[in-house]
Order: sequence, then structure tokens, then C-alpha cells
Amino acid sequence: MGKSIRIGIIGSGGIAGEHAKYYKQIEDVQIVAVADILPGRADQFIERWGLQGAIGFDDHRRLLDLDLDGVSICTPNVAHHRTTIDALSAGKHVMLEKPMSVTLDEAIEMVQISKKTGNILNVGFQPRYDPNMGIIKNLIQNGELGKVYYVETGGGRRRGMPGGTFIRQEIAGAGAMADIGCYSLDMALNALGYPKPLTVSAYTSNHFGTNPKYHSESGAFNVEDFGVAIIRFEGDIVLNFKTSWAMHMDTLGATMFLGTDAGMKITPAGSGPWSGVWDGKVGSISLFHDIQGHHTESAIPLISHQLNVFEEKIKDFVSAVREGKPAPIPGEQVLRNQAILDGILRSSQSKKEVDIHIPELD
Ligand SMILES: NC(=O)c1ccc[n+]([C@@H]2O[C@H](COP(=O)([O-])OP(=O)(O)OC[C@H]3O[C@@H](n4cnc5c(N)ncnc54)[C@H](O)[C@@H]3O)[C@@H](O)[C@H]2O)c1
Repeated sequence: MGKSIRIGIIGSGGIAGEHAKYYKQIEDVQIVAVADILPGRADQFIERWGLQGAIGFDDHRRLLDLDLDGVSICTPNVAHHRTTIDALSAGKHVMLEKPMSVTLDEAIEMVQISKKTGNILNVGFQPRYDPNMGIIKNLIQNGELGKVYYVETGGGRRRGMPGGTFIRQEIAGAGAMADIGCYSLDMALNALGYPKPLTVSAYTSNHFGTNPKYHSESGAFNVEDFGVAIIRFEGDIVLNFKTSWAMHMDTLGATMFLGTDAGMKITPAGSGPWSGVWDGKVGSISLFHDIQGHHTESAIPLISHQLNVFEEKIKDFVSAVREGKPAPIPGEQVLRNQAILDGILRSSQSKKEVDIHIPELD
């Protein structure tokens, strides 16, 4: 038996339940406290999930006074920054829900405190745990594509707009690009080795969310339901990143990597109006290459597996905490994802290409 790991959960809405479910399944892990800003909500969560002995708070700072090894931060996006800074400063390791933050400046401060305190800042991109993601990354990193110069990722839901905390800028910070686009961005950039972004030119709109014909909360809807951005990276790579929660179209295209020796196309798993964005499992991988002068398309066999990627992300965080390992999905790397999302907000507002400056952090 290993050392018992004591966990706190901050924000007890929808996704916190998934965290609780998988922490509960790990031996020697105890959820000892839950905090939610809405009075009484943490206690209801404790009861619903049968977290015997756990204490409920309506202020995350009181939870952080306890002796805890790690906290899961499951608040809406705008609260990620404050709660993460407070948790790291209080000596806790952090399992943070995506997207990392709203602005790049927030993300920089979060990484700086993580480095200063030596506490883990791990960002919860569970699609990385699809073993087929490993195939994609290996094909690129082993040079199968040659030099990759152009990438497209994201994708489009025909009609899959959330409501509640996700559509209000003052709570979510941003819309579709940050909410589901951040996953495809993470997978594409992770496969490329997370190159440094240099500039962004973006357009966003919300013609569906603000129309009562399409959304029951249209009066409150003030984030983007569609966005497209061209991002330039170090190493002369260009990314065309597009995401929609709603559109009059069947697809915004697959994820593709164009290389000097081969191209790779990836489609997301799933079907129906809420699918079409690469925000979960891999559906198919094809390589486009020339064999003895013939244009050839090779379907890469997928690894069939029963892994629950969400369970894997929680287990990986716990073992990093238990064994004193680095963050499995480090905030320092995801900072580049956040830099792009921040650039998208700035560029779509100014209607101009913007530079991205990520300082060296020590
Ligand atoms: N990884 C995934 O698959 C996944 C899925 C859904 C949501 N998310 C992310 O998880 C986060 C939460 O999403 P959700 O669907 O659970 O939202 P939600 O609105 O259901 O729950 C958020 C909870 O946080 C509470 N809260 C708000 N501010 C707080 C604060 N300062 N301190 C403590 N509690 C606070 C709210 O009262 C609410 O109970 C978002 O960042 C979202 O992007 C991730």
C-alpha cells in the first residue's frame, strides 16, 4: 500500500463528478474536501457522490487550509487562474480542467508559481490518453511525413451549443475555440512537439448562439460559436484552426498534416450533430504518400482499446503526485495553447494579425 493521497475538489458542477468518480476508484485516494462558490452546493455534491467524511466549503481558500496533496480545479474558466494560484501557493499539486485560463498573462503567472513552489500544474486534456494519439505523434516525430509545413485542425459541430456557464463571456471567458477547439489544438501541437506560436490572425462570430431560433439562452449568449485562425509557428509551420458549435454545413474538414514526404489525415470518432470536432478519440488515420510514383493512401490500423481516457488522466495525475514525478500534461507546455487562444481573442477584436510574446520562464 502506498501513501494515502488526500484530494480536494474546487468547483462541484458537471465535470467535478467525473473527477470524483475516478478518484474514488483508486486505492489509497481520499476526497477529503469540496468547495463551491454557491452555498450548499459542495455539501450536495459530497452527498451525491458518497464522499464520507469530506467537508464542504463555499470558499476555496478555506479548503486550501487543509492538509491536502492535490486539488482538482473544476470551476468555469474565468476562475481557473485565481484558484490555481491559491492552490499552488498553498503547497498543493493541481489537476486543472481545460482550457488552462482565459488570457496568456494569467497562464504565465500560473506557470511561474508552479515553478517557484515546485508543485505540479497539470492540465486535463484527456484525449491525449487515446493510444491512437501515440501513433499520430510517432509518425510525425519519426519523420514519416518529412518536414511538416501546414496543419489544419479543429472541426465543426453542425449543432452542438452548450448553455449555462459556457456561453457567458464573464464566466467562460471565450466560446467554442477555447471550449472544444483547445483539445484539437492540444493534440495537433503535441504531435508536432508543441512548436512556439508567433502570430495569429483570427475571425470569430456568434450568429447562432445569439439567435432565439437556435438557442434558448440567446439573450445571454456573448461568446463565439464559430471561429477561424491562421497561426504561424517557429520552424515555418502554419496552422489553420477552425471550430464551430453550430453551422449550416456538414463538416469543416478533417485534421490534416501536410509534410514534404507524406500527408496525414485524421478524423474524429463519433457521429451526430455534436460530433465533427477532434475533441475526443481518434476515428481514423490515413497516410497520403507516393509509392514507386503511385499516389497511395494507406489506412493506419487503429489500436482498439477499452481505456477510459478520463480515468487515465486522473490516474496519471495521482501517480505523478504519489511518486513525485513531473506533471503528465505540464502547464508550461500548454501555455503555448493558451497563447494562441489569447491571440485569437485579441485578433478577433482588433480585426488584425497580432504577435504572440511568450517570455522565457525560469
Ligand atoms: N475535460 C472535460 O471533458 C470537460 C468537460 C466539461 C467541462 N470541462 C471544464 O471543466 C470546467 C467546469 O465545467 P462544468 O461543466 O463542470 O461547469 P459547471 O458550470 O457545471 O460547474 C462549475 C462549478 O464551479 C462553481 N464555481 C464557480 N466559481 C467558483 C469558484 N471561484 N470557486 C469554487 N467554485 C466555483 C460553480 O458554482 C459550479 O458549481 C470548465 O473549465 C470546463 O471547460 C471539462
